[in-house]
Amino acid sequence: MADQGGFPHHMIKEIFEQARALHDTIVPRVSLDEAAVQLREVRINPEELRALRRINIVASGTSRHAGMAGQYMILELAGVQVDVDYASEFEYSNPLIGPGELTILITQSGETADTTAALREAKSKGSRTIAISNVVDSTIAREADGVIYTHAGPEISIASTKAFSAQMAALFLFALHLGQTRNKVSRDLARNYIRELLALPDKTNAVLRCAAECERLADKYHQVEDFLFLGRAIHYPIAMDGALKLKEVSYVHAEGYPTGETKHGPNALIDEALPVVIIATCDRNDPASVVRYEQNVSNIKGFKKQSGRVIALASEGDSEVSGLADHTIFIPDAPELLLPILEIVPLQLFAYYMAVRRGLDVDRPRNLVKSVTLE
Ligand code: AGP
Repeated sequence: MADQGGFPHHMIKEIFEQARALHDTIVPRVSLDEAAVQLREVRINPEELRALRRINIVASGTSRHAGMAGQYMILELAGVQVDVDYASEFEYSNPLIGPGELTILITQSGETADTTAALREAKSKGSRTIAISNVVDSTIAREADGVIYTHAGPEISIASTKAFSAQMAALFLFALHLGQTRNKVSRDLARNYIRELLALPDKTNAVLRCAAECERLADKYHQVEDFLFLGRAIHYPIAMDGALKLKEVSYVHAEGYPTGETKHGPNALIDEALPVVIIATCDRNDPASVVRYEQNVSNIKGFKKQSGRVIALASEGDSEVSGLADHTIFIPDAPELLLPILEIVPLQLFAYYMAVRRGLDVDRPRNLVKSVTLE
């Protein structure tokens, strides 16, 4: 346990390092006084950023989920169309990309073979490229035109946790920078967002206090073999990653779905045997978030009517959701675009404790490697 800082596994140590990872990724790059984001290593000049027609985000696994969240951030803050692709599918789709576009490759290791192939394909078609990577001088960081390093520190556990939240923070910084460069984000709005970014590490530490609650949930649910994870809009990628973490470390089947899709099929499955984890937080300052929240409340009522067991993530003080759900984990308030960074924490903790309770090799799940260097 010596190199695990007293924690029994790397995964839990890394989950607890998230506040530090966010601090180190965000703080050196923002100035509250100047309301500015500095991304020196991006190496794409402002004229090019202003002229961008489209952005492609390409990645694998958890890194792709960060990209899906980044898609909402970039659309909202910079008004640029974003497509997100699986790196493993990218070359088969013969993507119509070229000059005037930017391809962002997200990769913790910087060595994933599918993502490297996608980077080379994008470059060969004339797209500009940026890597978001956690490993300095990795292949993808070296070969891309520009790079944004996540300063999450080494991630040993095969399940990616702190690198994921740092990737979302890096994407948010890029979206804000792009929005300012394209005159879509006012100084006041940028300053507000920077203030919120700087508050994230403390809020992450506050969310981590739910660890004991997540452990109790795992005690209760560790024999269940199927879960459904639901989220709308920017929360959908978090549902996807919650499900992936559970599959990967607990060997429990879990699906991530957009909440609104349940009535198009999965609803038939929901009863007392299939617990639903639903992300139902709300940014009360954002009218679209309030609308989604109300839809989530009505979904939860529906699941309860069909005898579903509901584990909800809700905003602090939300008695409506907690009155309906079987279990509620509270998330501190944050702007809609930043909530995902907080929401993933309890889902990581739940997956971790489920794996521990099932007696599994948490840091080295069967059949998986940390860096997939074969296509
Ligand atoms: C995450 O928990 C997984 N182990 C996996 O999906 C991983 O995110 C994926 O293989 C991509 O790796 P990369 O970020 O190093 O490219």
